[in-house]
Amino acid sequence: METDIITPEIKEKDSRKILDRIRDDFLGLNTKYRIANGEITRRIYLDSTASTLMMGIAHRTSEKFLQHYSNTHSLMHFSAKIATKTYAWVHERMLAFVHADPQYYTCFFTGSGTTSGMNRIARIFSHLQPKKDVVLVSIMEHHSNDLPHRKHGGHVIHIPVDTHESKMGCVDMDLLEHYLQEYEGRVNYVSITGISNVTGIINPINEVAKLAHHYGAYIVVDAAQMAAHVPIHMSGHTDSAMDVDALIFSGHKTYAPGSPGVVIARKDLISKIEPEEVGGGMVDRVFPERYYVKNEFPDREEAGTPNILGAITLGAAIDVLDQIGMKNVLDEDTHLTHYCMEEMLSIPEVVIYGSTDTRFRAGTISFNIKQLNHGLVAAILNDYFNIAVRNECFCAHPYVEKMLELTHRIQIYEARAKNNTNWHTEPWMGMVRVSFGIYNTPSDVDHFIHALKDIISKQDEYASHYTINDNGDYEHQTFQFSCNEYFSLSQNVKDELKH
Ligand SMILES: Cc1ncc(COP(=O)(O)O)c(C=O)c1O
Repeated sequence: METDIITPEIKEKDSRKILDRIRDDFLGLNTKYRIANGEITRRIYLDSTASTLMMGIAHRTSEKFLQHYSNTHSLMHFSAKIATKTYAWVHERMLAFVHADPQYYTCFFTGSGTTSGMNRIARIFSHLQPKKDVVLVSIMEHHSNDLPHRKHGGHVIHIPVDTHESKMGCVDMDLLEHYLQEYEGRVNYVSITGISNVTGIINPINEVAKLAHHYGAYIVVDAAQMAAHVPIHMSGHTDSAMDVDALIFSGHKTYAPGSPGVVIARKDLISKIEPEEVGGGMVDRVFPERYYVKNEFPDREEAGTPNILGAITLGAAIDVLDQIGMKNVLDEDTHLTHYCMEEMLSIPEVVIYGSTDTRFRAGTISFNIKQLNHGLVAAILNDYFNIAVRNECFCAHPYVEKMLELTHRIQIYEARAKNNTNWHTEPWMGMVRVSFGIYNTPSDVDHFIHALKDIISKQDEYASHYTINDNGDYEHQTFQFSCNEYFSLSQNVKDELKH
């Protein structure tokens, strides 16, 4: 295998230049839409926590690769050699990216983002230790790092978050230890997010690993948000108890839409059981009455034809991120998040959820404007300012509900008493979230802050243009947006066929 994975010396030297060179090279940075006042303006994309924009280099690399496209699992013809070797290189690239020693860890790709990887890991770990029936997750988890464990992992216990002001919304490490002690011998694994998709709070994953291991539990990390923002060290710690057993992330949040979920896990653990998914590519020999699973990683974990193009696209994006250096990526991120946070904190009508200490946050700020529903604010930001944000509960209902106690304590208790299962029927239930990628700039933040101030000063006027529909969404009464005006798949095909 030709290996040209970069070394730390090269990183420091050129990182700044690379970041400056690629910052503007993302697909969709110049997308324009007509807004409610009739002007056509550039979209400001502040929704990277949901999905990042595509990195130009990753896009062009995948296009180049398509000239050689072929299925993998063969070294016979020229294109198969290129596809197979490149796909193998990408696996190694992922391991290097998260500092997982290839001697002990393997990387394999799964279907739909982090969710599929997490379901797989939950099934693997529950088969590994069927007698251990408890899984600890924090209350701050995305549903994708909660429900898979409820369904496959066992009895899930949610660790509460800290509610002291300085650590508001962070995982309560004392309580984590308390539960590990209380259920010692029964906890199969602890599964925790690296960064919250609601507050952007960064968790000390290696400290959590140490605690979990001390009490005989494994540690799984949901790195869906962490991968694009913070350096990750799965292994290589002087204290090996700080090493992480399994970690999962998604390409679509790491500048490579269309790519698969990534699982990185200890080989010694997953080799103890038969792979969860079976089919072509993961077997040595198949007879009508029996089959023999391959010993080699990652093949044994990747049944079927993989998402080769997606993995290669992600490989290119990760390679660029590592050449910038994830420490530099984090520094940039902290800078921008801090700037935005300070500006928001200076507006008395804005409430920010979670600790506002930006040393422990990356890329995400969720907030509300007092007396205004999140849906209305998000709609105005979109319709009048062309600022793309996300609102509601971000697939993290328990955490959002806990954080909302800051502003909506009474409504929360009343809603709980009603046992209301549909969040949409309570238009106050939720937050607005702004989030950043490496393409965002202080000028994007300025635009956003200007919009917030404008919304606050003219809130009645803006509100008078909207009604709430049956889904709980705010709809402008006169301004209509036509998707087909900007993109129609069938029209595109027609146009292509005409030429
Ligand atoms: C922290 C976190 N975990 C898991 C997921 C699920 O990721 P995916 O949509 O790639 O399955 C998300 C998506 O927003 C997330 O933010």
